[in-house]
Amino acid sequence: GAPVEVDISKLEDGQMVRVEWRGKPVWVVRRSDAVLSELGSHDGQLRDPQSAEPQQPGYAQNEYRSVKPEIFLAVGICTHLGCSPTYLPNTFSEQVSGISAGFFCPCHGSKFDMAGRVFSGVPAPLNLVVPPHTFLDDGTILIG
Ligand code: FES
Repeated sequence: GAPVEVDISKLEDGQMVRVEWRGKPVWVVRRSDAVLSELGSHDGQLRDPQSAEPQQPGYAQNEYRSVKPEIFLAVGICTHLGCSPTYLPNTFSEQVSGISAGFFCPCHGSKFDMAGRVFSGVPAPLNLVVPPHTFLDDGTILIG
């Protein structure tokens, strides 16, 4: 599949753009400072907080799982059986107490934080996949 260019110059805190890459949905989200600081708060509740799984790109093997802290990309497909999780920018605390934003899979209840890291005790075995990507400039990402 061809690489896909995404314009993020107008993306505001909390907003997501969805694009298609190789027939898969890819999410691009701008994370606010509040969301970024939240990412450090719940490693103990995660299955693989450092993304040690080998299929992740190197820049995804950390807490933010991104090239730039504020911009997060993920393939929008649950690592359980392939449903597309729902982005909950404001109401995720109904799923995991104390955490304001995240992704919830309606099929079997898997929960992922704003770095796509899977919580313990849900069916999904792995963190969401971060697709290969590079920044062409501050406002443009190339996926693939
Ligand atoms: Fe997402 Fe099963 S497909 S929890």
